[in-house]
Amino acid sequence: MKKIKIETYLEVFETISELPKDIQELMNKAQQARENAYAPYSHFRVGAAIRLTSNQITIGSNQENAAYPSGLCAERVAIFHTGALYPNQEIKAIAISASSSSQVLDEPIGPCGACRQSMAEYEQKQKSPIAIYFMGETGKIVKVASVLDLLPLGFDAKYL
Ligand code: THU
Repeated sequence: MKKIKIETYLEVFETISELPKDIQELMNKAQQARENAYAPYSHFRVGAAIRLTSNQITIGSNQENAAYPSGLCAERVAIFHTGALYPNQEIKAIAISASSSSQVLDEPIGPCGACRQSMAEYEQKQKSPIAIYFMGETGKIVKVASVLDLLPLGFDAKYL
């Protein structure tokens, strides 16, 4: 038996103004996208914005449903929407911002496991890393350089 240590590197930014200019713009778009969340059940709103290598930005927000599991997270709405619109373009980065009606979210809110799995698939598809930046409504922003930093040992299409 041997033990293997897996390390993840995060970069933490104190405020949006500390981010590179193009990522500031992307995070602003994620915050705006949050406004279009349809979250009548959870009152938890999430916005995601995606930067393509062409520099275009696409967005998504969580869309809930009375049949709860039928709803979808912001990250997957954004990445599936992007895949449908621009199947041959590379994704450079995704910015995510979350807010809640019951408390001010002032710490970074990481994407759920299913969204990590979905985003990892697009990284494999394009064969290059996708940087993820995530935050709450305010406060610090966490950056990971690749989805794999958030999902080590994930399921991979190569096993199929
Ligand atoms: N949600 C997201 O949009 N992204 C996540 O990564 C976690 C959760 C949404 C789903 C649901 O509409 C609400 O937040 C509460 O779970």
